[in-house]
Amino acid sequence: MSKILITGKNGQVGWELQRVFASSGEVIAVDADDMDLADADAIRRFVRDVSPDLIINPAAYTAVDKAESDSDLAMAVNGIAAGVLAEEAQHLGAVLVHYSTDYVFDGSKPAPYTESDVPKPQSVYGKTKFAGEQAIRASGCKHLILRTSWVYGVHGGNFVKTMLRLARERDELRIVADQFGAPTWARDLAQATASALNCWKILDWDHQLGGLYHLTAAGRTNWHQYAEEIVRLARKYDSALAAKPLNIHPIATHEYPVPAKRPVNSVLANDKIRDAFGIVLPAWQDSLAECVREIYEQPESA
Ligand SMILES: NC(=O)c1ccc[n+]([C@@H]2O[C@H](COP(=O)([O-])OP(=O)(O)OC[C@H]3O[C@@H](n4cnc5c(N)ncnc54)[C@H](OP(=O)(O)O)[C@@H]3O)[C@@H](O)[C@H]2O)c1
Repeated sequence: MSKILITGKNGQVGWELQRVFASSGEVIAVDADDMDLADADAIRRFVRDVSPDLIINPAAYTAVDKAESDSDLAMAVNGIAAGVLAEEAQHLGAVLVHYSTDYVFDGSKPAPYTESDVPKPQSVYGKTKFAGEQAIRASGCKHLILRTSWVYGVHGGNFVKTMLRLARERDELRIVADQFGAPTWARDLAQATASALNCWKILDWDHQLGGLYHLTAAGRTNWHQYAEEIVRLARKYDSALAAKPLNIHPIATHEYPVPAKRPVNSVLANDKIRDAFGIVLPAWQDSLAECVREIYEQPESA
């Protein structure tokens, strides 16, 4: 029976991971009260005490704009803690799964980014997440780093839920239309994580399958098109919203100033994970439809 330590148990991905891994072993799911990722000694103590075979780390400082003025804490949680978890995994012979971000890129590439493209983060969040990737690689532990983008889910705060609220409250929305990426469902990430680990285990942990992979929904969109699709789907379940006039205006990035610079293009190429593990996530519209349906039909799970 394997012991699985999952961080960020109340986060979007952490919440889905707990459900997906519930029958895979003894799951120890933690939050900051159990193991504060800003405290390296606390991480070492906790991990040594639990002695897991597998550490899955979806916890992160994810407040992209707040991180600009809170860089020490963001670096502690996203950079240093990832390295400490990796060192402890190496010490125990455990496997570490870690999640990273499209925001490690500057967004200037006109095509999808591959794993061999050189990161050039533009924000504190992106820099700290890239530092975490580097620390994990330097540790020598068996690991998967899964870079994803624009995560949403039934559980937790995200763009989908914000749009649903704003669509009910307002008659007009102004949404950025010149940043491109792939909205990715937290549940797809959790299920793909389990598939990749099963495949790696079957082939043998010594097989050279570890490393960095891009993992996002198929397709690409911009925030404006994404918002329109969210509202279109929601109107099927929400009669008040269906009857309400709502204008969603496309705007440029400079018309919505925020502290952190975002990449213009952060579409990631998923060929490597497809070739290594046979993993292809659904088109972003298909998973979004499933998630919106669940938000309306099973609101108690949110
Ligand atoms: N969200 C996105 O759009 C996005 C895009 C690309 C990549 N990613 C990456 O994907 C992963 C999962 O993201 P997500 O959307 O599931 O994140 P999320 O919903 O924001 O959850 C992050 C979790 O980290 C926990 N956490 C924060 N500081 C902590 C600390 N000091 N000690 C322990 N736990 C702490 C939070 O706990 P509290 O809630 O209690 O603070 C929360 O449960 C992250 O690595 C993120 O960088 C996310």
